[in-house]
Amino acid sequence: MRKLLAARRMNRSFSLAPVNPKTMLRILDDALRSPTAGNAQGVSFLALSDPQDRATYWERSTDEVWRSTSARFDGFSRAPFIVLALCDPAAYTQRYAESDKAASGLGEAPEVWPVPYWFGDAGMATMALLLGAEHQGLGAAFIGTFRNEQAVLDAFDVPRGVRLFGTILIGHSDGEAHRSRSLNRRVPRGSRLHLGRFGQRVATE
Ligand SMILES: Cc1cc2nc3c(=O)[nH]c(=O)nc-3n(C[C@H](O)[C@H](O)[C@H](O)COP(=O)(O)O)c2cc1C
Repeated sequence: MRKLLAARRMNRSFSLAPVNPKTMLRILDDALRSPTAGNAQGVSFLALSDPQDRATYWERSTDEVWRSTSARFDGFSRAPFIVLALCDPAAYTQRYAESDKAASGLGEAPEVWPVPYWFGDAGMATMALLLGAEHQGLGAAFIGTFRNEQAVLDAFDVPRGVRLFGTILIGHSDGEAHRSRSLNRRVPRGSRLHLGRFGQRVATE
């Protein structure tokens, strides 16, 4: 596990090499073992591999200007699998309206949740998928969808109300990725690891 966590990086440039669909199904299925609040299991993946579907995803989730100017688009668009990480707030409100959870008051509506666990749970499943891809020697990248969420979801018959946490691109790296500027940011892990009191530093390896 330590090796997997240390080796995993977002891969932003894919080759055209296909990924064995059975391998994909296995890592998707395994990732759905991730925990969910109240075991609501309101997280799902929608995997796209058909070229037309992938083209539709890119058309709807980005715009022409970005596609023609972004240094990342070509590398991203070759990914043979596009996985939408979805979560359903209604699954959570329904679960928390059940007798063993009703006292929480969270069964009323998504708006009353101080922390929207459905997004956290989608993040847990996403991380499991990223690690599963790494374990299989595949490249993967998580990208946010900043616009047209509903248009993306409608294209693939996702029921209304279900939310898009983000997208995981999976395939083989072509080794050509530009180094992300984000990687220049370094906040030492030790400074984010507190023992006993916030700010109490811990020496890390
Ligand atoms: C919630 C979240 C949203 C992200 N959105 C994007 C994105 O839209 N595009 C992108 O290229 N990378 C995105 N990233 C990847 C981060 O930039 C990346 O994880 C971070 O720079 C650390 O790099 P590493 O994952 O390679 O270690 C996102 C990561 C997370 C966790």
